[in-house]
Amino acid sequence: MSKLIVGNWKMNGLTADSLDRAGKLAASGLHMVVCPPATQIAAVAAAVKGSKVLWGGQDCSAQGPGAFTGDIAAEMLKELGCSYVIVGHSERRQHHGETSAQVKAKAAKALAAGLTPIVCVGEVLAEREAGKHEAVVGQQLAESVPEGNVVIAYEPVWAIGTGKVASPEDIRAMHAFIRGKAGALPILYGGSVKADNAREILHTPNVDGVLVGGASLKPDEFIAIAGAG
Ligand code: PGA
Repeated sequence: MSKLIVGNWKMNGLTADSLDRAGKLAASGLHMVVCPPATQIAAVAAAVKGSKVLWGGQDCSAQGPGAFTGDIAAEMLKELGCSYVIVGHSERRQHHGETSAQVKAKAAKALAAGLTPIVCVGEVLAEREAGKHEAVVGQQLAESVPEGNVVIAYEPVWAIGTGKVASPEDIRAMHAFIRGKAGALPILYGGSVKADNAREILHTPNVDGVLVGGASLKPDEFIAIAGAG
């Protein structure tokens, strides 16, 4: 099965650099997904249309359209041709106080709009050091994932943007644990995935793809990651 390679640009990208990146990714001929900031989705969509690059949002509202200033409804992403939307990223859980119940509601809205939600879970360092990582992730899965065609992303919070990758054994053990809960749903790994560690991570059992932050901003590196699948 081919691997799902997702780039999360986070809050990076004005039009010129977004178009530059999108054009290079489209020219690679490889299957991948990019999640630009909301302001760049339409431009990126136009730039990659007809290529193997799909696109998605980084978040959506748990509500339908209405009086929710600053939020973006799942159907608005769908109208832009998005295939995916990330929900429950640890930066949303930490900085915006999103609870698993809210994440589940967002994922359900995404499904109802015809999007595939990428539901993020992962423990913080203190939880891993206390040996609670499986309990934490198990609870997040139970509370954040609705029934349906969902992608799970395991991202240990201590590995995000830190250059610290979970060890192959940690990834193998956690993905096996998640497989036991998630059945056949695809499971991505995220956290400091780079061109030089992607091959080993992508060939770990129960790793169906990767969710890439920092390295997805460098087209050559992201293309190398996609090529490692
Ligand atoms: P990183 O981010 O690749 O920069 O560690 C991953 C993520 O937050 O999805």
